[in-house]
Amino acid sequence: MNDIFEKVVKRMGPLGQYADDAHGYYTFPKLTGPIGPRMVFNGKPRLNWSLNNYLGLANHPEVIKADADAAAQFGMAYPMGARMMSGNSDYHEQLENDLASFIGKPEVILLNYGYQGVVSAIDCLVDRHDIIVYDAESHACILDGMRLHIGKRFMYQHNNMESLEKQLGHATKLAEKTGGGILVITEGVFGMSGSQGKLKEIIELKKKFNFRFFVDDAHGFGTMGKTGAGTGEEQNCMDGIDLYFSTFAKSMAGIGAFIGSKPEIIKFLRYNMRSQIYAKSLPMPMVIGAIKRLELIRTRPELKENLWKVVNALQNGLREAGFNIGLTTTPVTPVVLSGSPAEASQIAYDMRETYNIFCSIVMYPVVPKGVIILRLIPTAVHSLEDVAETIAAFKEVRHKLDNGLYGTEVVSARSM
Ligand SMILES: Cc1ncc(COP(=O)(O)O)c(C=O)c1O
Repeated sequence: MNDIFEKVVKRMGPLGQYADDAHGYYTFPKLTGPIGPRMVFNGKPRLNWSLNNYLGLANHPEVIKADADAAAQFGMAYPMGARMMSGNSDYHEQLENDLASFIGKPEVILLNYGYQGVVSAIDCLVDRHDIIVYDAESHACILDGMRLHIGKRFMYQHNNMESLEKQLGHATKLAEKTGGGILVITEGVFGMSGSQGKLKEIIELKKKFNFRFFVDDAHGFGTMGKTGAGTGEEQNCMDGIDLYFSTFAKSMAGIGAFIGSKPEIIKFLRYNMRSQIYAKSLPMPMVIGAIKRLELIRTRPELKENLWKVVNALQNGLREAGFNIGLTTTPVTPVVLSGSPAEASQIAYDMRETYNIFCSIVMYPVVPKGVIILRLIPTAVHSLEDVAETIAAFKEVRHKLDNGLYGTEVVSARSM
């Protein structure tokens, strides 16, 4: 017999095992000052490429005012209770209607959080007879939704249509036996690599197979498509997406999420999603603030135009300088380097302390051993000077890495 506490503190988990060396610097860093491209980290202003504030709405004066006015009028408590019981309001319904007309779906259900919304939507859509077919690089919320699924699931290789077709073949045979249906799940934009899900090609497969299609477009909403309505709009295939999900955590710079679909499906979700029925409704400032953010996305195309000016300058500049930025076709910009975990920590430290550049660093066990990814998230409020400064720093860092100037010692947060 084991004691739960003794067991967990011995293991600490895949990320927790690095906590002592990482805490407060690489993990759980504190960025202070107004949200934007320059924020204070470890006592000094740094050029910040780590926030999904794609359109710069987090610190937009009209957004701040809308949030503050709503908080002054309603506080953070109203409405109390779950929406089904006592927590509904005209504003919640207005936001759903505004979102539906923006994304071009007949109806939308508002969700309290993206992560638990996806988990719960998957949980309530499928039963033990149904089969889920999903992309291997799906976000944790999709994987965790599947952990609640007691029926079968098949994983296809990331963005590999041959593999998807094969898995759909297995799923179809099985569904014929169980009498269930098939739900295919992918992301619109993959948040680590920046590649787009092959939505159009997946929808093409509906001609051969019978399935429903769920897309998590957390990074695509606001950034992709002519009007910013997301990756479905970008690939001109929104009609083939049966359930379109996005969160407010990124372009909308808020809290909350939503799913768009047919009226009868949204009605089913409203009456069956346990995360919404058994949890308090979003507070009014979140809802009124989201209405304002959506209005700005709809009416200020310059926000997305600025974003893409910065994206193009950054990605073209990095490519021209010979950096490997993978297959990104979206704002997410991974810079892929090779090196040991010690070198990864030295690079992150050097970037922050010598060049005053703050970006996320991704290394083993999140990516294979020997791979280091510095992930840059450009936003509408970055400047072309920020881009030039960053590319110059990356060139120097690469020079040091190529010449073995980064040592073999992990730079520990304990030494700071
Ligand atoms: C692809 C994806 N789906 C879902 C979520 C979860 O959304 P939320 O932060 O609203 O819980 C995220 C991260 O925010 C995400 O990147």
